[in-house]
Amino acid sequence: MELVKSIGADKVIDYTKEDFTKSGEVYDIVFDAVYMISKSQCKNILKENGIFDSSHGKIPQPKEKDLVFLKELIEKGKLKPVIDKTYTMEQIVEGHRYVDKGHKKGHVIIKI
Ligand SMILES: NC(=O)c1ccc[n+]([C@@H]2O[C@H](COP(=O)([O-])OP(=O)(O)OC[C@H]3O[C@@H](n4cnc5c(N)ncnc54)[C@H](OP(=O)(O)O)[C@@H]3O)[C@@H](O)[C@H]2O)c1
Repeated sequence: MELVKSIGADKVIDYTKEDFTKSGEVYDIVFDAVYMISKSQCKNILKENGIFDSSHGKIPQPKEKDLVFLKELIEKGKLKPVIDKTYTMEQIVEGHRYVDKGHKKGHVIIKI
């Protein structure tokens, strides 16, 4: 909760304590970053013309201008990458085991 607030969230909901689909609030956009909910489960919490999207199965194919835009956001401190753990190539099995637990906080890096 503190990590997510520290990188800019105005409000954080603990999914283990509160079902955000039943809070009565409605949103312009619901973006599922961890593939845990479907569009139909969100139909009552989206505003009219609200958007649902999910990261699931999407392999980003950024264009050069997208990468420059991201670089600028990072340089301005508006996008703050979070690195949880770093493993060497020899430790890659351990790294995968950690990721497979489904609770990494940000990114896990394999150093080559
Ligand atoms: N990482 C990539 O390179 C990549 C690339 C393309 C697509 N994707 C897709 O992106 C999605 C997320 O992958 P990921 O790599 O970011 O990591 P992940 O291991 O799927 O997500 C870890 C995070 O999910 C949270 N979480 C677990 N269960 C949750 C729930 N029921 N509700 C809300 N949050 C929950 C965990 O928080 P707690 O520890 O507090 O439980 C943790 O912060 C996947 O669908 C994956 O297919 C990932």
